[in-house]
Amino acid sequence: MTYLVAYYSRTGNNRIIGEAIAKALSADIDEILDKKNRTGKLNWLKAGRDSREGKTTEIAVEKNPQNYDTIIIGAPIWAGNPIPPIRTYLKTVNLKGKRIAFFICSQTTGYIEMFPQLIAQTPDSEHIGNFGITQKRFKEEDYSSELEAFVAKIK
Ligand SMILES: Cc1cc2nc3c(=O)[nH]c(=O)nc-3n(C[C@H](O)[C@H](O)[C@H](O)COP(=O)(O)O)c2cc1C
Repeated sequence: MTYLVAYYSRTGNNRIIGEAIAKALSADIDEILDKKNRTGKLNWLKAGRDSREGKTTEIAVEKNPQNYDTIIIGAPIWAGNPIPPIRTYLKTVNLKGKRIAFFICSQTTGYIEMFPQLIAQTPDSEHIGNFGITQKRFKEEDYSSELEAFVAKIK
């Protein structure tokens, strides 16, 4: 089985989780880069607006999911919605017939409502699991057993 972890992270939380998953699965890892500048306060506001409006964006990736059996996709939530770089990723890469799983580190438990939306955006894939964590639990490193269970499930 070959695994790819593809993630977007603006402030590093989802990167750390993605790296932990990749290590546990001996997976390749790919950072999804948003070509729009998302740093600074004004861009923070714009990021929320773009997300709320369901916008896509231009992204850069290095790895082709077609070369893997299982793709684990991670990102935060912005303004209660899937973020533009993830919308673009799910629209532009070919995940047909692939085993896929999602992970989200967000401020709140909003990931619970987010997973069905992400699953709806990938109707031709086999959904094998989700992992969500609030930022507070992430910072307190209170997630290792759940992350282990997630990794075991998607192996
Ligand atoms: C513009 C913006 C909007 C956000 N909106 C939400 C939200 O609606 N719900 C939530 O739980 N977290 C929200 N967050 C918080 C992020 O999801 C959270 O900080 C996450 O851990 C960041 O992950 P990262 O470090 O991988 O970028 C928002 C963050 C930003 C920048």
